[in-house]
Amino acid sequence: MGRKIGILTGGGDAPGLNAVIRAVVKYGVGQKGWSLLGIEDSFNGLLCDPYRVVPLSMQQAKGLLPRGGTVLGTTNRADPFNWPKTGENRSGELAAAVQKLGLEGLITLGGDGTQAMAWRLMQERGIPVVGVPKTIDNDLGATDLCFGFQSAVDCVTDALDRLHTTAESHDRVLLLEVMGRDAGWIALHGGIAGGADVVVIPEIPWTPEGICRKIQERAAVGRPFSLIVVAEGARPVGEKIIPGKAAERVAEAIRARLPELDLRTTVLGHLQRGGSPVAFDRVLATRFGVRAVDLVEAGRWGELVRLRNGKVEGVPLPEAIAVYKTVDPNGELVQTARSVGINFGDTTR
Ligand code: F6P
Repeated sequence: MGRKIGILTGGGDAPGLNAVIRAVVKYGVGQKGWSLLGIEDSFNGLLCDPYRVVPLSMQQAKGLLPRGGTVLGTTNRADPFNWPKTGENRSGELAAAVQKLGLEGLITLGGDGTQAMAWRLMQERGIPVVGVPKTIDNDLGATDLCFGFQSAVDCVTDALDRLHTTAESHDRVLLLEVMGRDAGWIALHGGIAGGADVVVIPEIPWTPEGICRKIQERAAVGRPFSLIVVAEGARPVGEKIIPGKAAERVAEAIRARLPELDLRTTVLGHLQRGGSPVAFDRVLATRFGVRAVDLVEAGRWGELVRLRNGKVEGVPLPEAIAVYKTVDPNGELVQTARSVGINFGDTTR
């Protein structure tokens, strides 16, 4: 008899999740003869009565490659060790569900939160897991890249291209707030690709003087419009983040100094997470899905799939979840951006 494996998606969604599921179905079910059970809404699907699970056959893989979101549903409120509202530890119930359904193990698609829970389930409840990393923020240190990131960057680039033409027509300063609570990767890549003039990221606190200087320098050479990308986790020097107010704060600071400017703010929000994955993410997601099947086949439970130096490989989960990846303020990418005139809102350079 073939293996019986469960698969779930946890945390925020990302373009490419369905492409991973498709790859696991095509390779695991289609070629290795697995029976695969999709678990709905992260671990929640195993902690309800009746269970919310769906058998995934080759039929279900159809049309998944370009499809955004996750057909399994997801949530970031499904911690079996600390159940929302009640604080209960329901990991024992979860282990019982895995056993009752005859699952040999789980493939968990998710970010650091989901992978930390998965590892704990393996350690404390003996549930074998193989992780597939997911975050559009690209802030997981374990992997060089995550699927979904490139799609988000393309979305930001497209938004900046659109803002560029209207900013230039009206001589306006346009601010674009993008995702990135703790890391500025989306802002930095999107800002470079979309030709932003200022990029403010969590790793480099900004000053009003730094940002205004750039706007004024441009105006002085006949460019009376500017594009400013603001990561949602950006903050002024010496101050704390105010959730949901990143771009607004920058706008207020500019207005206070340069009240004559015509300033507008756009918050790109969940547009960055929705929709079809770009080709790069479809390929990466497919590689991750196939590698996850290989890890299960090899009995390499407790590992996470990752991309390192161009190669997709497995790495022990505890090692993988320990490292967080932020933008190096002195790194090559920031230097490259500075070299083409992008200002980070700091006064020093
Ligand atoms: O996955 C992280 C992220 O992309 C953050 O950049 C952002 O703050 C968050 O998701 C928003 O997610 P939600 O609206 O689902 O809480």
